[in-house]
Amino acid sequence: MMGEWIAFWDSEHSIYVNARHRDIHYRTIATHVSKHVPQDAEVLDYGCGEALHANLITPPARRLVLCEAALKVRGALASRFHGHDAIEVRSPEEIAAFEPATFDVVVMHSVAQYLTAKEADVLLALFHRLLRREGLLILGDIIPPHVSAATDAMALLKFAATNGFFGAALIGLVRTAASDYWRLRSRLGLTRYSERAMVEKLGAAGFLGERAPANIGHNPARMTFLAHRK
Ligand SMILES: C[S@@+](CC[C@H](N)C(=O)[O-])C[C@H]1O[C@@H](n2cnc3c(N)ncnc32)[C@H](O)[C@@H]1O
Repeated sequence: MMGEWIAFWDSEHSIYVNARHRDIHYRTIATHVSKHVPQDAEVLDYGCGEALHANLITPPARRLVLCEAALKVRGALASRFHGHDAIEVRSPEEIAAFEPATFDVVVMHSVAQYLTAKEADVLLALFHRLLRREGLLILGDIIPPHVSAATDAMALLKFAATNGFFGAALIGLVRTAASDYWRLRSRLGLTRYSERAMVEKLGAAGFLGERAPANIGHNPARMTFLAHRK
């Protein structure tokens, strides 16, 4: 499942309906993530995507490692943050080779739905190893079982209306409906977890986790979990 989705994210997709959407999307996530980051923390953002505003996390973080599997996306990140002392860009293979207890915070936002349950378990084990004893795991944009594509579309329109790109979002939704995203989403499905299922999954991976009051992303029907090592 993972490879086909990564190829999609590495393509010229139109998930972001225009430059403003892309900008606000990444600004919203970086702003919300930064609120969970203690001063001088070392942070890993796993599956960070284009991370346009990663610099909003440094500070408070003194080091931010961006991990992205898609080759072209990773190349663009490396150019964007070249020369930025606190931000480094790494591949998943490089992250797997990091020393244990390297990070104070690990964030994985809007990635779990594109992984099988098994693939997610492998990553949770990796994050458990990479986090320090008091470290924090932030798992964002987890999709509960009952949330439909229509809910996703409505959330996007609302976000667009608040941020001045409603017209572009309407056109974008039509474009997305006819795109590879929908072909892939219909064929592969998205992996969903109820609140309880995710708390149990985190527990099995050695974390004590709970649902945060609000999601990190723009879609309030999706869930964010905050977890510490048991
Ligand atoms: C929906 S995007 C989310 C990007 C960003 N975190 C955000 O919230 O906007 C999912 C990203 O995760 C990356 N990804 C998927 N599986 C991955 C894996 N196993 N390791 C690293 N990155 C992965 C994809 O390439 C894609 O850029």
